[in-house]
Amino acid sequence: MSKVSRREFLKLGGAGAATAGAALATGGLVAPATAEAGDSGRVTLPYPHTKVGNAHKLAVNRPVRFSYPDSSSPCLLIRMGHEVEGGVGPHRDIVAYSTLCTHNGCPVSYDPRTRDFKCPCHFSVFDGEKAGQMVTGQATENLPRIILSYDARSGDVTAVGVDGLIYGRQANIL
Ligand code: FES
Repeated sequence: MSKVSRREFLKLGGAGAATAGAALATGGLVAPATAEAGDSGRVTLPYPHTKVGNAHKLAVNRPVRFSYPDSSSPCLLIRMGHEVEGGVGPHRDIVAYSTLCTHNGCPVSYDPRTRDFKCPCHFSVFDGEKAGQMVTGQATENLPRIILSYDARSGDVTAVGVDGLIYGRQANIL
């Protein structure tokens, strides 16, 4: 076994030194240190802030279409008329969802009678009053919820993020 001086050992530094020490203890070889360090190089892009409606102009249970975070991601904004989970606005009743089914990406439609989203392809149902929770069907994930912020002065409702992965994407921001 070759000997490593105290100076050489300290030069290796941090985790490399620990690895080297372990390798020396077992008589193994030490690979040169690399630049890879977990996912320290990962880049997270910020969500855009996009005005999607105004609380004073939204009629109860009348969905409004918009796209977020980009033009290829259809969504619906709905004022439920009573406080719901994740709701914003003066009555905490405004919510929004991606309308791409989490099973295979078919466009879901909102049913104002039951206030849920129905997928015509394999009949999954998502609860619009419970944060897009999957109720039944082939889907295994909830409908992605668009995170909204509300400006009490202007009444503006702004999309600021997405809770859940939009169908067909590895990341919501492309
Ligand atoms: S694509 Fe919606 S249930 Fe299959």
